[in-house]
Amino acid sequence: MAATFRTIKDWEVFVDFKKEIIQLREERVNLQSEVFSLKKSLKKEIENREYLEGEIAKLGRLNIIGQLAAGLGHEIRNPMTTIRGFLQMLQSKTDLLVFQNYFELMIEELDRANLIITNFLSLAKNKPTEIKRVNLNKLLENLFPLLIADAYSQDKKCIFQPGKIKEIDIDSNEITQLVLNLARNGLEAMQPNGCLTIETFMEEDSVVLSVKDEGKGIDEENLKKLGDPFFTTKENGTGLGLPMCFTIANRYHAHIDVDTGPDGTTFFVRFPRPCDEIE
Ligand SMILES: Nc1ncnc2c1ncn2[C@@H]1O[C@H](COP(=O)(O)OP(=O)(O)O)[C@@H](O)[C@H]1O
Ligand SMILES: [Mg+2]
Repeated sequence: MAATFRTIKDWEVFVDFKKEIIQLREERVNLQSEVFSLKKSLKKEIENREYLEGEIAKLGRLNIIGQLAAGLGHEIRNPMTTIRGFLQMLQSKTDLLVFQNYFELMIEELDRANLIITNFLSLAKNKPTEIKRVNLNKLLENLFPLLIADAYSQDKKCIFQPGKIKEIDIDSNEITQLVLNLARNGLEAMQPNGCLTIETFMEEDSVVLSVKDEGKGIDEENLKKLGDPFFTTKENGTGLGLPMCFTIANRYHAHIDVDTGPDGTTFFVRFPRPCDEIE
């Protein structure tokens, strides 16, 4: 609709009015984009909070399991050792030779239960540790024959690529358990002929251990559950291997990160350098 103006004043008022409308429109656009970015950061904040709440709940569960483990582990283990001893003794009796298979099975089952308890005990928080300054490469070299044997028995390969790294303060037994668990998971994730690669290297001030497999990766849903006690996708899994790794890493203020995709999964364990080594 065309406007008619009787006086110049009218025209000026009209122009001012138009100007104001344009300015208001501009402000509206600005406000919209501000609301949009606020919404985005709020969403991020909420996600972050949910993630942290999840992590706290996870730590809480680990703690309870740790306490349970400390209390029960030893009490169950002692009678089991006695039973195992008697089974072994009976196994060697000639008049019981027909039951040889049963004895073997009973001993195997006891050993499996014992393994679960060992994993449980490693979750105990107040477990005494023997911390020494160690070269991680030496520890891995000692462990390597065992890993090769494990890999070989499943028609798979395992290689170790040691890098030039600083020594770190660790309990060798605990870190051995951690490496064994990550390596076994990696081996179990692969088809025959797959190759597991263990590497060590420096990354700024951290000593990094990486365990890389050629499995088919971990889907997003399961990725969130990694480290939850008893989470397993394996028929005979315990779901205690990774919780144990996380608990051990935590003790050394080390971080475990996972990189996964259709070509495989890599677990990175980043150990901080000893405080007195940092110049
Ligand atoms: N390298 C890996 N590749 C694919 N899945 C993995 C890998 N490591 C761990 N997982 C997943 O995490 C689960 C929990 O591992 P873990 O705590 O060691 O228990 P378990 O090996 O007894 O199942 C496994 O069942 C598997 O689904
Ligand atoms: Mg495992």
